[in-house]
Amino acid sequence: MKHVIDRLLVIGLGLIGGSLALALKQRGGCRTVIGYDLNTKELEEGLRLGVIDERADDLFDAVRNADVVVLAVPVKVMESVMMDIAKVLPEETILTDVGSVKGNVIEAARSAFGGVPVNFVPGHPIAGSEKSGVAASKSTLYDHHKVILTPLADTDRFALRRVSQMWESVGAEVHHMDVRRHDEVLAATSHLPHLLAFSLVDTLASDHENRDIFRYAAGGFRDFTRIAASDPMMWHDVFLANGDATLKVLGEFSEGLEELKTAIEQRDGRKLLGVFTRAKSARDHFSKILTGTAYSLPMTDINIKFRAKSGGTVRGQIRVPGDKSISHRSIMLGALAEGVTEVEGFLEGEDSLATLQAFRDMGVVIEGPYQGRVTIHGVGMHGLRQPPGPLYLGNSGTAMRLFAGLLAGQAFDSELTGDESLSKRPMERVAGPLRTMGAQIETGEGGRPPIRIKGGAALTGIDYPMPMASAQVKSCVLLAGLYSSGDTRVTEPAPTRDHTERMLSGFGYSVQKEGAEARLSGGGKLTASHIDVPADISSAAFFMVAASIAPESDVLLQHVGINPTRVGVINILQQMGADISLENEREVGGEPVADIHIKHAPLKGINIPEDQVPLAIDEFPVLFIAAACAEGTTVLTGAEELRVKESDRIQAMVDGLQALGVDIEGTDDGAVIKGGAIGGGRVNSLGDHRIAMAFAVAALRSEGDITIDDCANVATSFPNFIELATSVGMSVVIEE
Ligand code: S3P
Repeated sequence: MKHVIDRLLVIGLGLIGGSLALALKQRGGCRTVIGYDLNTKELEEGLRLGVIDERADDLFDAVRNADVVVLAVPVKVMESVMMDIAKVLPEETILTDVGSVKGNVIEAARSAFGGVPVNFVPGHPIAGSEKSGVAASKSTLYDHHKVILTPLADTDRFALRRVSQMWESVGAEVHHMDVRRHDEVLAATSHLPHLLAFSLVDTLASDHENRDIFRYAAGGFRDFTRIAASDPMMWHDVFLANGDATLKVLGEFSEGLEELKTAIEQRDGRKLLGVFTRAKSARDHFSKILTGTAYSLPMTDINIKFRAKSGGTVRGQIRVPGDKSISHRSIMLGALAEGVTEVEGFLEGEDSLATLQAFRDMGVVIEGPYQGRVTIHGVGMHGLRQPPGPLYLGNSGTAMRLFAGLLAGQAFDSELTGDESLSKRPMERVAGPLRTMGAQIETGEGGRPPIRIKGGAALTGIDYPMPMASAQVKSCVLLAGLYSSGDTRVTEPAPTRDHTERMLSGFGYSVQKEGAEARLSGGGKLTASHIDVPADISSAAFFMVAASIAPESDVLLQHVGINPTRVGVINILQQMGADISLENEREVGGEPVADIHIKHAPLKGINIPEDQVPLAIDEFPVLFIAAACAEGTTVLTGAEELRVKESDRIQAMVDGLQALGVDIEGTDDGAVIKGGAIGGGRVNSLGDHRIAMAFAVAALRSEGDITIDDCANVATSFPNFIELATSVGMSVVIEE
């Protein structure tokens, strides 16, 4: 076996040094591991337990003969050990350490060696346990743990690579960081929590009357104070070595604690709930980061692939998740209302969660979501606070465009950012009319995000004939109109979804609709309401097409929103010959709802009427699949908007279907699709949720399996897609 290192000397056989030695031995990262420790008992124990191959009795000899020396001694004694070995350390020998503070260790090296040696690679494995001593050594301690290396400008590249390889060989993930940044980050994430745990336990333990607390202490106390059983000497060293950074973060923490104290004294429940709900959402987000499913990780870095098995039948009754458009708006209007708004059926997808988080960032207390229930403590039209930084809206064009209107009317400055896909989408379509209203708003290069808005602008209502049929633009202008003097009128070239108008009315804000025009007067107020979000027809559409194209299918989609501005997909599929019926039609909270029953039926190609395009704007990816399964040719025109969605949806579908052998040509504003056989193969969703799900549906009729790349964003609108698809008989799995 080829070893990364020939002879490695670990000075200091505690938990960290011992675990590194053991892991290197067991994984073959090193030919011979030698241990040295002032405590000869620990050394003997290390040899007996097989943690090291050899024990060094003479430190100087051992240093002279090693290729790599790892300093695993407490931070405080680093300098004296360095002083000792400085006289004998050969120039070519690589030196590294495992200290949890880096600035101090680098200073120690500087004074011990008369300058930091280029072969010294400062390191810090973020791993450990409350146990200490060589007997606690664990060969798996570093598996999937991060190791931070803080090389200096002149650190030798070869030495750096060697040390990186050493850590990687024991399963760790190596990161590089600036020394100062390392010490600040660690003060916040590690040193402060240890200080708090030590302090809490000591405070409680020293109060005699509180002795009983230990007897009755349950999970919370145990979880919070586990680290108070850590090695006292080691932590004593850490706080002395990283005092400044710790004091800074301790100061911030103390202010937060003081605020909570005041809130309790003043019985300020809203303040408490605000802190707790924000903390909970941040902690939940952190758990997602740990499991690698966090939204704010660049989704393009996580290539989740779907494998959809060819063939199958779709049968059963399901309720797809809540409507995305209505979910966004429920949070927005609930936050600006006076009183408490309860939402049910909220879509817990990444897009609407981004909106929810943005309002939390602006000081709104929001409880949940818990099983689709959200409670929003409205702050009134002028109660939002300036967010601490840019509002990150992920993949959501709706959030960004609606926020632009809403924030144009605030007293504070704001900035809106998004992921890679959102950062390519046109924003001048909203910035333009907002400027006409008096907003001070800038977009990034090419009219794309980020959007920067200057607060305190006086807005005036406008009369805006929209150049394109866009509910987002309409909603943006209407939301800005709430903060404008006089009337705001928007006229649309074709009907688009009217959830904003309906919901404003539901919150008691008068909106007049006359033909293609929607009008409101600024300066009013919103009153809290109850919102029951129906299932999203855009998500239901995947199963409408699935049941239509797969033989012997029969599916009932429950409680789906059938707002007349959204039913294009039903109209188009029915024209193609689909067997779709609406059952149990009713109205829920101002929105029409029905159960949709679909049975398999042969489809035929049609010329899609252009007036249906805005009414089915999000459903075209899956309608392309219906067209590919239909007999004859389907022609789509007047759909140029599809080119500026989460991806260029015309191109994405043309490329994907051609890869599966379908006869399809893209045009500027649509496509010509000839029905016929669909082959198996591999397609790329380009990170677009609806493209990914559309191709999963296509597999029901494909001759071979379909592998779909880049599917992580399915979580933006339909987080349980695979689960529901599986429950009705489709076979879609995440491929490793
Ligand atoms: C939406 C409007 C539509 C749609 C989007 C949601 C909304 O966009 O594509 O998914 O909630 O207002 P456009 O209005 O820009 O067409």
